[in-house]
Amino acid sequence: MAVEALTPRPSTAKEASPGRAWWIEPALTVVSYSAFVIYATWSVFDQINVTFYPYVSPFFSTWLGVGLIRIPIIAILLPILAVIPLGLRGSCYYYRKSYFRSFFWDPPACAIQELKRGTYRGETRFPWVLNNYHRYFLVLSLIVLVFLWVDVVRAFTYHGSFFIGLGSLIMLVNVILLSLYTLTCHSLRYLMGGRIDAFSRVRFGTIWHRIVRLLTWANTRHGLYAWISMFSVALTDVYVRLLMAGIIHEPRWIA
Ligand code: FES
Repeated sequence: MAVEALTPRPSTAKEASPGRAWWIEPALTVVSYSAFVIYATWSVFDQINVTFYPYVSPFFSTWLGVGLIRIPIIAILLPILAVIPLGLRGSCYYYRKSYFRSFFWDPPACAIQELKRGTYRGETRFPWVLNNYHRYFLVLSLIVLVFLWVDVVRAFTYHGSFFIGLGSLIMLVNVILLSLYTLTCHSLRYLMGGRIDAFSRVRFGTIWHRIVRLLTWANTRHGLYAWISMFSVALTDVYVRLLMAGIIHEPRWIA
């Protein structure tokens, strides 16, 4: 039987995709991620609580404390708490693939050879070792998500009355997108069913099985949710800032 010679792997992205503008996706990724990190860092450390009653920016959703002691607590904790969503995204499996390809070209795509083959240490050294803590960032992010939902419920209340403003709807869409991003996490899928060898042998196995199938189905869209939730967080923050500055006035309806 004839044995076909294996085709050598292309050594560059250009060689693998002749005639295609292969560099557009990595370039867009680099620009978008860099812009988001710069903007989020500036917003968090800006020393202004981005709120416009009854709205609060998602960067400032950790509404801890009571009365007057609220602001100092936020000021002290905010930079620390910002580590949670940052840690989740930085160690996210989708983002890892994305930034290794776009920022480090290591490799730039599946079919492309690595640029150089140095000593591979996996995720055993700082900072990549932090990726091993992804599941802990996930659990903490689920708690943050509860705060965000509380903020959204408050965004529909104006001095005790039911209220709808454009900002309420923007905050609602944002938290839905963040929930989709968080709940389609690979680690959550594993935590919910990865340890179960046979669903038929565990209590409530049918329910577990349905949940895991649902998460598996939704997980295929995780990359999409990663992108749009990143933009929605930034845009919600921008919207509240524009209201604060008096640059825009929104339509509101109070019952
Ligand atoms: Fe992306 Fe967990 S948040 S894999």
